[in-house]
Amino acid sequence: MAEKGRTKAIAVVGAQWGDEGKGKVVDYLASSFEYTARYAGGHNAGHTVIFNSHRYVLQLVPSGILRPGKKAVIGPGAVVDPAALVAELENLKRSGVEVRGRLFLSNRAHLIFPYHREMDKAAETARGEAKIGTTSRGIGPAYEDKMARRGIRVSELLEPECFRVKLERLIAEKSAISKAAYNHPLESAGLLEQYLELAAHIRGLVADTAVLLNHALDKGESVLFEGAQGTMLDIDHGTYPYVTSSNATSGGAAAGLGVPPTRITGVVGVTKAYTTRVGSGPFPTEMPDLDAQAVRERGNEFGAVTGRPRRCGWLDLVVLRYAKMLNGIDSLVVTKLDVFDEQPEIKVCVGYRHKGQSISEMPAEVETLAQIEPEYKTLPGWKKSTPGIKDVRDLPTAARDYLNFISDQLEVEIGMISTGPERDATIVPRGTKLSAWL
Ligand code: GDP
Ligand code: IMO
Ligand code: MG
Repeated sequence: MAEKGRTKAIAVVGAQWGDEGKGKVVDYLASSFEYTARYAGGHNAGHTVIFNSHRYVLQLVPSGILRPGKKAVIGPGAVVDPAALVAELENLKRSGVEVRGRLFLSNRAHLIFPYHREMDKAAETARGEAKIGTTSRGIGPAYEDKMARRGIRVSELLEPECFRVKLERLIAEKSAISKAAYNHPLESAGLLEQYLELAAHIRGLVADTAVLLNHALDKGESVLFEGAQGTMLDIDHGTYPYVTSSNATSGGAAAGLGVPPTRITGVVGVTKAYTTRVGSGPFPTEMPDLDAQAVRERGNEFGAVTGRPRRCGWLDLVVLRYAKMLNGIDSLVVTKLDVFDEQPEIKVCVGYRHKGQSISEMPAEVETLAQIEPEYKTLPGWKKSTPGIKDVRDLPTAARDYLNFISDQLEVEIGMISTGPERDATIVPRGTKLSAWL
């Protein structure tokens, strides 16, 4: 139910370093919303949704598209590789998901080109040991061009002559840089033709999505904002420079879609029962190899897109407290509780110490974060199977204690608990804010 006079508009954000299970959560919630909208990032994201024994991995297309009849938007804050988008749409079609008339791509979204990918890889190689561990999708270089005001947008791709002029200008500039840096010009043969051909495939999706969403809200049609990446990967608030190049936090939903912040009526944060991170950068609660291996196997912690093994660690309440503040989280979803079903004891980080002193705020410098000693509280495991449980009262006592501990420490409700990757392995406790949004 919407707040009086305001249409339901809820943001779902990752509260950690990405891969929290946002895809599963958005898929669950999407049946109660008219639209699902992506506001940031590109096909660096991999959102897994599993139902009826079918596994879908969505990269750019919002997960809500899997709900028949529901509409989905890719907003101006996202960066779009048209070849990747067309491939994703073909995959969806093969799985019987028709997007025509339901998926809308912003005319203002910026394009990713093959040279963005090349730049991404070259920069990572040049950084050596200090590499970020990007997804090599060209995300950073595409946002660089956008911010430097030389990017090319979707609407320009649809005007062949305008596109040709802009692309030639851009290639000349990039070639000069590439020659100076790598002593060879940019590989751009056939690029114009390739992109004009791709344009034909996406033309029918393109819209002014800010107008579309604001009109939808005016009419009382609800919107679910689908965050990509996670709070600690946010360009401004994350573990910079080991972050992505966009605002993953809930504020990004307003800027990245042109929906005023005053229209957002609630924020759902998603966390795993533990923590993972892919790529480089400090990770205070990272587990020793053997523990990490066990969690990685039980949780199948391998990148949905890149297949990279994810680094695993204990739950970090300092991170989650920070995420609650930055995003304004009203309701927390805890996923992958089942991964701890056989765990004898569970550690939770309740505070940070640096050089012997307690610190209460997230340090800005990664060098400081790398020196953090986490303070842990150890809670007993439950040693019982949780998938299939539908009522929170039927969870083992120690599992409920674990969830209550998180909720008490963060002073936030737990609005949903996930005990398996499938859609129906989900518990929604009654009487929560989240349950009122369904
Ligand atoms: P996202 O990027 O936040 O959407 O998350 P990913 O899809 O990249 O990674 C989450 C992984 O965990 C996927 O493989 C999901 O199928 C899986 N998953 C989600 N929720 C649960 C859960 O409660 N239990 C288990 N075992 N797996 C889950
Ligand atoms: P979802 O939406 C986890 C990480 C990369 C790297 C850093 C920068 O599935 O949660 P980039 O290619 O964006 O320049 O890489 O960010 N990263 C993610 N990690 N989940 C994601 O998305 C990620 N998107 C980017 O691993 O450390
Ligand atoms: Mg993912």
